[in-house]
Amino acid sequence: MTMNRRHLLFLGTVLTVSVLTVGIASRNGLATPTDTPANALAPPESFATIADPAARSAAYFTELGKVLTSPRCTNCHPATDRPRQGDARRLHQPPVYRGVDGMGLASLRCSNCHGGANFDPAGMPGHPAWHLAPAEMAWEGRTVAQICEQIKDPARNGGRSLQDLIEHIGDDTLVGWAWHPGPGRMPAPGTQAEAKALVIAWVESGAACP
Ligand code: HEC
Ligand code: HEC
Repeated sequence: MTMNRRHLLFLGTVLTVSVLTVGIASRNGLATPTDTPANALAPPESFATIADPAARSAAYFTELGKVLTSPRCTNCHPATDRPRQGDARRLHQPPVYRGVDGMGLASLRCSNCHGGANFDPAGMPGHPAWHLAPAEMAWEGRTVAQICEQIKDPARNGGRSLQDLIEHIGDDTLVGWAWHPGPGRMPAPGTQAEAKALVIAWVESGAACP
């Protein structure tokens, strides 16, 4: 236990230091999206040097793509009827299936095992609305450009407007789970607030795709 806590404190320090470093670098105009580490998100300001609005818009989305293609999102937006687990994205064990409402077959519902919140002693993720995204919202195995086209297509995004997307990615608590996945899972890059800032910047610049 003590070891774990020390380890976490150490990790916390490393993260704080790297966040501060990125912050300082970007204030000096040094950080560009390309030198942002894989587990962090570049702020919209760091794209200011891209003069062409469509290119800048596409660049915001490419940065957001680090989140969308992370296992925390794609495990629940799979290409088949089965969710995936862990950072290695292995097929869910035991086998469970989407079912008509995304909450599993009648015989084995997600809520039989997934509770209203994470249960850390068992490494068990949880949320009151834990269920699988519908098939038309599959992102697994797709490129960031393909996800961009489908995420803004109301026929494939649950009838959402661009404004709805800002709120869904920026404020939805099931999406927010991806940044608080419990021990043993890499959180989605950056924070939900930073992801929201990128979606806003993308929408305001014309929602262009890479
Ligand atoms: C029989 C119990 C059980 C049922 C039913 C179940 N799960 Fe799980 N699920 C687990 C366990 C245990 C884990 C954690 C194991 C792990 O990640 O290694 C898990 C992990 C997951 C993860 C991994 C999250 C991540 O990013 O690592 C996803 C996604 C998931 N379940 C989705 C679902 C969905 C959707 C349903 C319903 C269709 C469902 N599960 C039904 C037991 C279950
Ligand atoms: C526990 C499973 C789960 C996880 C984890 C999850 N989603 Fe989803 N997602 C869903 C479900 C279910 C829907 C459909 C909800 C609806 O339409 O009301 C959905 C729909 C969406 C939509 C709208 C449809 C679309 O594809 O355009 C977006 C955007 C989205 N999720 C973003 C994310 C992001 C970003 C992450 C990771 C940071 C994420 N989701 C993680 C289950 C999940």
